[in-house]
Amino acid sequence: MSEVSTGPVTVEMIDGVARVTMFGPPVNALGLPLRKALVEALDGIAHDPQATAVLLTGQAKAFSAGADITEFDAAASSPDLRELVAKVEDFPLPVIAAITGVALGGGLELAMAANARIADPEARLGLPEITLGLLPGAGGTGRLPRLVGPARALDMILSGKPVSAAQAHHDGLVDAVFADPAAKDGVRWVAHFALKGDRTRTRDRQEKVEVAHAAPGTVAKLAAVPLHKAKDPYAAQAAVDAITAGIEVSFETGAQLEREKFDERRQSPESAAQRYLFTAERAARKPRNLSTGVGRRVARAGVVGAGTMGSGIAMALAAAGIPVTIVEAEQDALDRGLARIVDNLATSVAHGSRTEAAASSERALIETSLNYGALAAADLVIEAAFEDLQVKKDIFATLERHVRPDAVLASNTSYLNIDVLAAGTAHPERVLGMHFFSPANVMPLVEVVRGAQADAEALATGFELVRRIGKTPVVVGVCHGFVGNRMLEVRSAQAERLLVEGALPGQVDRVLTDFGFRMGPFAMGDMAGLDIGWRNRKAQGLTAPVSDAICKSGRFGQKTGAGFYAYEGRDRQDDRFVAELIEGVSAELGIVRRPICDQEILDRLTFPMINEGARILAEGIADRSGDIDVIWVKGYNWPAYRGGPMWYADQVGLAHVAERLQHYALLTGDESLQPSPLLGQLADDGTTFGGDSR
Ligand code: 3HC
Repeated sequence: MSEVSTGPVTVEMIDGVARVTMFGPPVNALGLPLRKALVEALDGIAHDPQATAVLLTGQAKAFSAGADITEFDAAASSPDLRELVAKVEDFPLPVIAAITGVALGGGLELAMAANARIADPEARLGLPEITLGLLPGAGGTGRLPRLVGPARALDMILSGKPVSAAQAHHDGLVDAVFADPAAKDGVRWVAHFALKGDRTRTRDRQEKVEVAHAAPGTVAKLAAVPLHKAKDPYAAQAAVDAITAGIEVSFETGAQLEREKFDERRQSPESAAQRYLFTAERAARKPRNLSTGVGRRVARAGVVGAGTMGSGIAMALAAAGIPVTIVEAEQDALDRGLARIVDNLATSVAHGSRTEAAASSERALIETSLNYGALAAADLVIEAAFEDLQVKKDIFATLERHVRPDAVLASNTSYLNIDVLAAGTAHPERVLGMHFFSPANVMPLVEVVRGAQADAEALATGFELVRRIGKTPVVVGVCHGFVGNRMLEVRSAQAERLLVEGALPGQVDRVLTDFGFRMGPFAMGDMAGLDIGWRNRKAQGLTAPVSDAICKSGRFGQKTGAGFYAYEGRDRQDDRFVAELIEGVSAELGIVRRPICDQEILDRLTFPMINEGARILAEGIADRSGDIDVIWVKGYNWPAYRGGPMWYADQVGLAHVAERLQHYALLTGDESLQPSPLLGQLADDGTTFGGDSR
């Protein structure tokens, strides 16, 4: 066996098979140095008379995570990824990709240009470009449909979700799955392929696209549903256009269109926003005031409360293989919680997102009890009871009598003061907040609330647990509503005021859906139930004249068939009754209603949130403006292609935001709209919030 190393690429000759190994830690991103080294290595092999075939693989934890995202601010230098992909596809010898870890984006495109793909059972393959506001740019829109058919290709490209090796094998993306495909068995497989394998280039494979090619319009029909679900409508449409051309006209035409659209998207503000979020999310994993790596591994968890949140949290833990015990005060509540879990698992099996076996092993990890003593073995307990300080204080006092002295105690409160809760315990150093979002088994965000007295180990234990269950943790400080709900309250207050001043729910909601939210605040309120907010306001002695009046009329949202809108099933309609009720509230308050334009609505809903975000930063409640953006995109469905509220503010200009806030403060007499000191200062300095800077 001979071995030649060209920087990040090693070539070993094993029984006539040239094994080419990429080594560009951590994830073999295909930046210029790796591309150059691969081209050089392939050129060398092409001239090596001993070589009969190539096995292309990656060391580190990935075959390759695709193009180097940090290179996207400029056009790619030669050899670019397309040139490398073409070199592989037109190589004089058979090339087989052996995939361990992930093959994503350009990494999978490189593998698809090979003559065949073999993969490790743990491998994951996907084209996640859409999550960066892009479409595949190195032939993926043409090659994937030729390997898996148009329907699967559309699904993978428009969702951006990777598939398992088993799924890829089933779909035809992978030719064989076995352990260590880059080792001995892989070399043998490649040698055999060199003798007997079908060397038709992927681009020339027609079987799976023949039907769609013969019937123009097929791709458009297949694309309708995944296009509607796609999070970035611009990148999604561009991808569909390229896929369609690649199938209906020719591979070359599709590739040409893909190139144009990729460059257009790469330079778009939508992609810039999503690339920023990619780094902001990774920055959030390195919190400034919390050491990671010092947490305790949670072998067993506990949850107090079997309501919607408690059962959702238990499901999230069980899905990650963590045994969990739910404790409730009443058998009825426990039964309802468990029924919710069983139902949910059954639905996910029916939808194909879980196997029957996975669902039953998750169910088996969840135990229930009416006795706090059942939590004696837990390393961490999450309290998810009724949102009331006294209720939670009592639970923490009971917990302390039953859990181990070193168990970490977390509250899933959405608003309450963690420090007050901690102060009531004998060991405040082990108390923190873990604010999940509903439904907790689905939503990807958890605000990890840094209690003032919590010690490093407790905080790291909570933080690392969130990572382990596949969610994004963002560390926040203690204040009413933390980061997300504190900003949401400001937005809700403005939404309510806009109604009183002259807008109607339909207009306000439409402005936000036009902006990219899935739902506006009133449709959202109707879905969540208006009585909850009403009860909270009453408890705090607060009022919201329109929302209170709607509730007083017995309309609590979808569950009562009426709220800010009238409903037939889930179909929402504007309601004359609501318009008249709002006009009545304005008259009662002596406010002369005026037409309010869409731009004012957008500004009045977003700029005060940004202002609050600036206060949050000034108070040190969030470490970075990027953390706030991650919270809003992951927890509240702020459209990712707009980067989050603070990024959005940086794009429209902080001076503009500050000027408009002053203007609206003057117009409405609402002094809370005045720019905060930090916003005012940054606006005067002509700078930005700075996003993800570490
Ligand atoms: N380019 C540059 N850096 C990358 C990268 C990429 N494609 N993928 C990951 N990284 C970096 C991360 O920024 C991170 O850096 P840091 O340590 O400085 O924070 C480091 O690699 C490790 O990444 P993660 O923290 O994300 O590690 P995980 O183990 O959690 O996840 C992963 C690994 C699943 C590979 C994940 O990083 C990922 O999803 N990467 C992006 C994949 C992607 O979107 N590829 C498509 C790129 S676009 C493309 O290929 C265009 C083509 O079609 C032309």
